[in-house]
Amino acid sequence: MTERIGSKRTGMPMKDNLVIAIDGPSASGKGTCGRYLASKLGFFHVDTGAMYRALTWYCLERGIDICDHARLLETVRSWPAELRAEDGEVSLVVSGVRLKGEIRSDAVAGSVARVSPVAAVRVWMVRTQRECLRFGSLVMDGRDVGTHVFPETPFKFFLTASDAVRAVRRRAEGSSEDTAKRDQLDLSRTVAPLEPARDAVRVDNSHDSAQATSEFMLAHVLSKRRSLGV
Ligand code: DC
Repeated sequence: MTERIGSKRTGMPMKDNLVIAIDGPSASGKGTCGRYLASKLGFFHVDTGAMYRALTWYCLERGIDICDHARLLETVRSWPAELRAEDGEVSLVVSGVRLKGEIRSDAVAGSVARVSPVAAVRVWMVRTQRECLRFGSLVMDGRDVGTHVFPETPFKFFLTASDAVRAVRRRAEGSSEDTAKRDQLDLSRTVAPLEPARDAVRVDNSHDSAQATSEFMLAHVLSKRRSLGV
């Protein structure tokens, strides 16, 4: 199922679809817990960080100067990206290709925090992320999902873990990324900085397994769905 961004096809009625927003810094467990919730609930998972990485990858591939904001605006308006729902995930395909390992490279990791704060990029991303709802109910993870992408959803989580625990998790994943620096940039930027929504459930999972955290989140969602009747 692939949708051209901005097309008039609406798919499932948006009003019936739910969104679970999961925000937090890198290695706080958003992806693992988000995929678990999505599979248990039969929702699509959306990794919004992968979308920022895809644009960064595209710019690097094309030799586009990511410090030139006018060029970035032009690029984000015209790049060949489409939303696709496949294997329980909604993601961007670029020129028909679903990007995987290429967006996890050191080059992309080292540049994405310079692309993601640009206002024109965020406007495009938020609009595209909201369009994901046409595929069905979503578990969406990122930095600003509860604050800017779907502020209206009653299902919001903000995951954290101590710096030391997150560094250990990154190393265990084989990543050499300087996530502390990237987290600092995400926290301090003026546009949509990383921060919990006022009504987000905050979960510090420094001392909990991904399984325990996921089970806690699932129980919370199920109880909230019962109380809201959705
Ligand atoms: O989650 P990640 O490490 O793949 O995210 C890559 C970068 O994208 C990270 O520096 C923060 C940024 N990002 C963002 O600004 N807003 C989001 N909703 C998701 C990611």
